[in-house]
Amino acid sequence: MSDAETIYKTDALIADDIDAYLETHQHKSLLRFITCGSVDDGKSTLIGRLLYDSKMIFEDQLEALQADSKTVGTQGQEIDFALLVDGLAAEREQGITIDVAYRFFSTEKRKFIVADCPGHEQYTRNMVTGASTADLAVMLIDARKGVLVQTRRHSYLCNLVGIKNIVLAINKMDLIDYDQEKYDAIVADYAAFAKEIGIESFTAMPISGINGDNITENSANTPWYKGTPLMAHLETVSLNLDADQDKPLRMPVQWVNRPNLDFRGFSGQIAAGSVKPGDAIRVLPSGKTSTVSKIATLDGDLDEAVAGQSVTLCLDDEIDCSRGDVIAASDDPPEASDQFEATIVWMDDEDLVPGRAYWLKLGTQMVSVTVQAPKYTVNVNTMEHMAAKTLDLNAIGVAEIATDKPIVFEAYADNRTLGGFILIDKITNATVGAGMLHFSLRRAQNVHWQATDITREAHADLKNQKPKVLWFTGLSGSGKSTIANEVEKLLNVMNRHTFLLDGDNVRHGLNKDLGFTETDRIENIRRVGEVAKLMTDAGLIVLTAFISPFRAEREMVRAMLPEGEFIEIFVDTPLEVAEQRDVKGLYKKARAGELKNFTGIDSPYEPPEKPDIRVNTVEMTPVEAADYIVRQIAPLK
Ligand code: ADX
Repeated sequence: MSDAETIYKTDALIADDIDAYLETHQHKSLLRFITCGSVDDGKSTLIGRLLYDSKMIFEDQLEALQADSKTVGTQGQEIDFALLVDGLAAEREQGITIDVAYRFFSTEKRKFIVADCPGHEQYTRNMVTGASTADLAVMLIDARKGVLVQTRRHSYLCNLVGIKNIVLAINKMDLIDYDQEKYDAIVADYAAFAKEIGIESFTAMPISGINGDNITENSANTPWYKGTPLMAHLETVSLNLDADQDKPLRMPVQWVNRPNLDFRGFSGQIAAGSVKPGDAIRVLPSGKTSTVSKIATLDGDLDEAVAGQSVTLCLDDEIDCSRGDVIAASDDPPEASDQFEATIVWMDDEDLVPGRAYWLKLGTQMVSVTVQAPKYTVNVNTMEHMAAKTLDLNAIGVAEIATDKPIVFEAYADNRTLGGFILIDKITNATVGAGMLHFSLRRAQNVHWQATDITREAHADLKNQKPKVLWFTGLSGSGKSTIANEVEKLLNVMNRHTFLLDGDNVRHGLNKDLGFTETDRIENIRRVGEVAKLMTDAGLIVLTAFISPFRAEREMVRAMLPEGEFIEIFVDTPLEVAEQRDVKGLYKKARAGELKNFTGIDSPYEPPEKPDIRVNTVEMTPVEAADYIVRQIAPLK
């Protein structure tokens, strides 16, 4: 069965059955793990075996569910969907659709979610997604083949996403006559590689998925193997969460629980550490301190809560705290910063655009972020570092990133919840990347905003007007500059204080170092946006005439300004008309191939979907268009 065929649909989930199921099993700990290896290595057989061997519980608890679910797993077994909910919740929230199959099984001691990810290189993003929530990885090796390029790739990725428990399952031992020497050689080979990439430890075991050797019981065929069978290992291995309980408290606030005036609590899942009533806490990023008065849950108040638990914390003081804030141990809080080095795994068909603003979602925090061109990318087969200008689908790179406001974070290596993030395209809302924060670049802490006494309101009042940015966008030759110029003349007559920033002019000065590549155009608009913003702070009505071909950057400028101050004016001139006018003769050059990256010819223009004002230059003269615009924006005070 191919990887694709094992993908399940989630829409058949039946909520009541799942609730009933979770209720039955809620007191068992949950181990999430991932299996790495290809079908050839015996992955399906091994998973089938694990499911089969845990079947007793599986069957009687899940009959109802199975009847309703429409899936068939590997080897014709009915596979339960129940904890798929759990497994997929995170990804669904993030809007990722990936080819990762999640299966559930349970034994007397534990319940398990196994993510089965396709193993080929082009599936890096799937693997990273599946692995990012896993506590353990089973690295399958065909005993006849030993450590392969694929084993290295998977190990690298598992280590990258912070999986600390690695099981090296050397499979098909029956086919090498349970030869200890061959087994030892493979283990030694893997140990050398593991050390090279920073894997601190792993547990090796000789197995046969087909025969069941060392799966649930120690096999008589390998008397020399002194370790535990795979199932026992999975049932007893200590979860990363256990370790997290010794760390200082971290709880990202998911929501503020305020059912009535007498109760105010902060709900979330404890990401690290533990908390008791009476503990001193600090809310970040504000830094305000208080004391925990109560730990509330649906089942009553607790004397202590630990990493992994979802709780509502009540505090002694009425301090400000909202979604996205982090409640932390008062004497050992995490840092907040807005500049970082990070590893990014790119998951979108469209390449990363360095300099473009994306959303960065880290736990419950959501901020705008720009990513610089990568310092290097990593070849996942050889672990070599390579130079790169961008990241394409499945690429892994290290880059500096800057957020528009500080976020509370920890290094991913210390805390997956506060160090792992996803990147979301602002226009399509698709998840385009996942990343891991390394460290803060610390620049952010050293530059402080200087408060000034004459405020932007004071500047504007003196001019008796409301500042605005009239942002003209359209093709080259569409008439932006001409119309903006007419609008400025009209405003001038109305005693308005204005300033016109024009593409061709700004490119002679401030932006003379920029050309017309995608990256340069983005930087062009970013700078113009910043200048326009400063001018509105000074109380001016700013007119800008730039092609500004990309929606993302126009939206970025809109987001920089107070609500209502950015007015997008689409100078809607069809390409044929602009080309026919060809005021500067540039279309002719572009068509002749003498001018590269010309907008509309070999560089895209993304028209505004909902411009605040649209002018049709075929039907209106520039003066008419200007008159129309001024009437639309009045009154300015
Ligand atoms: S933008 O795309 O970065 O917003 P901007 O408005 O500053 O462009 O500059 C566009 C002007 O530069 C055009 O009106 C034209 O005169 C000139 N120009 C020169 N080369 C190009 C090009 N390859 N594409 C578009 N405009 C170009």
